[in-house]
Amino acid sequence: MEFEIFSGTPTELAADCLVVTLGKSGTLSASAEAVDQASGGFLSARYSDGDIKGGPGQTLLLPAVSGISARRVLLTGSGEGELNEINAGKIVSAVAKAVSAIAGTIAVDLTAVATSERPEAWWAEQLVLAIHANQYKYSLTKADSEPAPKAGKLIWIGSDISTALTVADAKGAGTDYARELGNLPPNICTPTYLAEQAQALSAEAGFTCTVYDEKELEEMGAGAFYSVSKGSSEPGKIIIMEYKGVESSAPHMIVGKGITFDTGGISLKPGPKMDEMKYDMCGAASILGTMKTLSILKPAIHVVGIITTAENMPAGHASKPGDVVTSLSGLTVEILNTDAEGRLVLCDALTLGIRDYTPATCVDVATLTGACMMALGKVNSGLFTADEELAAELTSAGKYTNDRVWRLPLEEEYQSLLDSNFADMANIGGPLAGATTAACFLSRFTKETRWAHVDIAGPAWGGDGTSKNSTGRPVPLLTTYLLNKIS
Ligand code: BES
Ligand code: MN
Ligand code: ZN
Repeated sequence: MEFEIFSGTPTELAADCLVVTLGKSGTLSASAEAVDQASGGFLSARYSDGDIKGGPGQTLLLPAVSGISARRVLLTGSGEGELNEINAGKIVSAVAKAVSAIAGTIAVDLTAVATSERPEAWWAEQLVLAIHANQYKYSLTKADSEPAPKAGKLIWIGSDISTALTVADAKGAGTDYARELGNLPPNICTPTYLAEQAQALSAEAGFTCTVYDEKELEEMGAGAFYSVSKGSSEPGKIIIMEYKGVESSAPHMIVGKGITFDTGGISLKPGPKMDEMKYDMCGAASILGTMKTLSILKPAIHVVGIITTAENMPAGHASKPGDVVTSLSGLTVEILNTDAEGRLVLCDALTLGIRDYTPATCVDVATLTGACMMALGKVNSGLFTADEELAAELTSAGKYTNDRVWRLPLEEEYQSLLDSNFADMANIGGPLAGATTAACFLSRFTKETRWAHVDIAGPAWGGDGTSKNSTGRPVPLLTTYLLNKIS
């Protein structure tokens, strides 16, 4: 998307649409006031005639307003006084919808709604991310699909927030990439495909990329990972991308679950909606998306992105309930349910990453448990960490970019639910606190590290039937969190 900053009176601005706001009591923003004057009171007449009441997100599209150069004016309601999160969201989506539909040059004045809590840069980021979400359209395997609309030009009326626009656009590109990977059918998006994507992105961006294949991992002793990947004829992989935007600092590590299809294995899942288990690689997709954003912005940080990827299939050579395997850490695991495979592929990736990179912080993201989705729905991801600072950083990054997380417990008392007669731990903890016991399992492999786990089972995708779509989350969260690390 192309951007321009404009800080004058927009009556002579040549745009396909000029977006201005008005409040609930009819107060016009600076640009709206200028348009109103140039048009002989046309905008205020719309308010007094009751065509628009100014509620947050209400819109009225006015073609060919006399006295101004823009071809249309979109009058947008901005409510009254301090906006809450929901009303701010309504304004963003209303403006984004119009901008996406017109797909030309759009000039936007949201200065009237900017506050210290939500400055212009915030509105710009939200708007740009929403435009990306609206304009993204899956088409790869549809012969009859129309081409995606061409990204237009956004003229920001207000302060010079060009950096915020560039950053938001890069976050949007990373999020779109994650969306696309999530939506791809599982016969295309295999572990091998993810490795090819990582290699291509790394070659383009100058990252180092290491791919461990299934055989190497088995020989290395990654028995937990291998217990999942061995059930499929698609070979699993652990993929490590390193971006070194600064020398000599411990990296921030992000690790994503990449089960390209989760049948449940021998503990087979029920049939209905099983197709959605192609989204079980959305953690991995968000690692690639985040690395894509970094490749565009080239920020001064050191990041290691790890993808642990396999297919979870039932087969004669698949793991069985009751099998005991030895993880890369040396700890043994009794596999009581082959459908709890995410933690098995993650634990070895965490061990490997921490062993080889000694990260300053480590965050894993995974569509890990149905229980987390039941608890939090699709609004918040589950956040589990014993590190208060990390919890605060992730929570505020999520809030800022509207890719929110909600903290759930990870207390010592839950650990005993993983006790096993036959191994150091079981891979499931019974019916209680399912999201927490999954996090407890992972915590045993990250003991010496500042670590957080984000369960994205709810937010990673949404919709039903023809509206089913990957959200690209948590790319906005991860990129915002990492960019905040720039000192
Ligand atoms: N990928 C699933 C979790 C999942 C389910 C995410 C539905 C999104 C929607 C994961 O591998 C899984 O199957 N988890 C089991 C764990 C259980 C066997 C302890 C679950 O949540 O049922
Ligand atoms: Mn599963
Ligand atoms: Zn899974």
